Amino acid sequence: MSISQLARSIVESPTLKLNQTATLLRDKGEPVIHLGGGEPKTRAPIDAIINCTALLNTGEVRYAPADGIPQLKKAIIRYTEEHYHRLVAPEQVVASNGAKHSIMMALYAILEPKDEVIFPVPFWVSYPEMVKLAGGVPVPIRAEDGTFQPTVKEIADAVGSYTKAIIINSPNNPSGVMYSEEFVAGIVELCEKKKLWLLMDDTYNRLIFDGRTPTNCYRYASDLGESSQLIVVNCISKMYAMTGFRIGWAVGNKEVAAAMANIQSQQTSGPSVPAQWAAVGALNGVQSSIDGLRRTLENNRNILVKHLNAFTGVKVTKPDGTFYTFPDFSAYMKDSNKLANLLLEKVRVVTVPGKDFGMEGHLRISFCGTIKDITEGIERIKWVLDPDAPNELYLGDRKLVRDWR
Ligand SMILES: Cc1ncc(COP(=O)(O)O)c(C=O)c1O
Repeated sequence: MSISQLARSIVESPTLKLNQTATLLRDKGEPVIHLGGGEPKTRAPIDAIINCTALLNTGEVRYAPADGIPQLKKAIIRYTEEHYHRLVAPEQVVASNGAKHSIMMALYAILEPKDEVIFPVPFWVSYPEMVKLAGGVPVPIRAEDGTFQPTVKEIADAVGSYTKAIIINSPNNPSGVMYSEEFVAGIVELCEKKKLWLLMDDTYNRLIFDGRTPTNCYRYASDLGESSQLIVVNCISKMYAMTGFRIGWAVGNKEVAAAMANIQSQQTSGPSVPAQWAAVGALNGVQSSIDGLRRTLENNRNILVKHLNAFTGVKVTKPDGTFYTFPDFSAYMKDSNKLANLLLEKVRVVTVPGKDFGMEGHLRISFCGTIKDITEGIERIKWVLDPDAPNELYLGDRKLVRDWR
């Protein structure tokens, strides 16, 4: 049997794999605390459910335009106007099966074989694999000063004759950091000057804290016409807690949108129609759930950061948004895979190794769960790592005795 070289070069999504591991352990009755999750636990907005079930109740669910039903495009256009102050045409909008799929379609539409795609470190785990799937070469750029935000110069220095695109994700998964306005402005300017595509992955830009306002990349663009190479990606997954519906979208110039729609028409024939109707409901309905979720996450972040700050040796950067922190545990263990495995094995706490995001020594710890999980999860991690912790720990009625030091 022969599996293609391309398939063999792609690694499994570590975050999805961790979800499976956590579910398997839970099914066996293990007291798992999942701090590796990438989805809010709130319910989908009622308007989404009503819209979706209304279609299902008709019993007539048919093929639809590959780039999205007109009603969803209309809702996306309204969203873009409200949140980006920009009026776009339906031909500039492509709805796909989640932001991940939107990014994949964009990469397929713009990359030639061996074209390079630059993105800052730490990066969302899927970028390198998606770039490879589209035939490109991922080029992660690390900040020289060890922070989570390289300078525009560091990015510009990496631009060469093969560079085709830059991906910016702010606020960022896994660090939660929101890049500065100056940085985004500089990257927009760099892309215009060098004629590069800029993919703005705005998946988390409604989930930001401390009264900050989301960055609107269009503000810094001097070219907003048909030759604009700016592609903005959003989704219902995180802001409406609708990860399982799998709806995201991209807004770009008409030519790139048509290319993406064409590819999609041959690949999936478009996103699931009931899910699109749910997205229409979410986007056009009452918006208070986003604010409620944002407030809950901000409170969770404060509690998690407080616990991590009290953890000797752990360095934490306070997230500006998302539901992730990316603390540095290298004082305890440099190999993040080993550390994540140790925590899972000893105290059944799921975290994501920093290596998968391009930064060893870190763990991604999510705060989209309950406060109890966050507090108890950090206590368990402390027990494993802190040499001064008591020798015994109870997980429910199971007594654990430290036997690894
Ligand atoms: C930065 C980033 N972009 C895109 C996605 C994918 O979103 P979706 O579930 O809509 O495909 C994720 C999901 O974790 C993400 O973290």
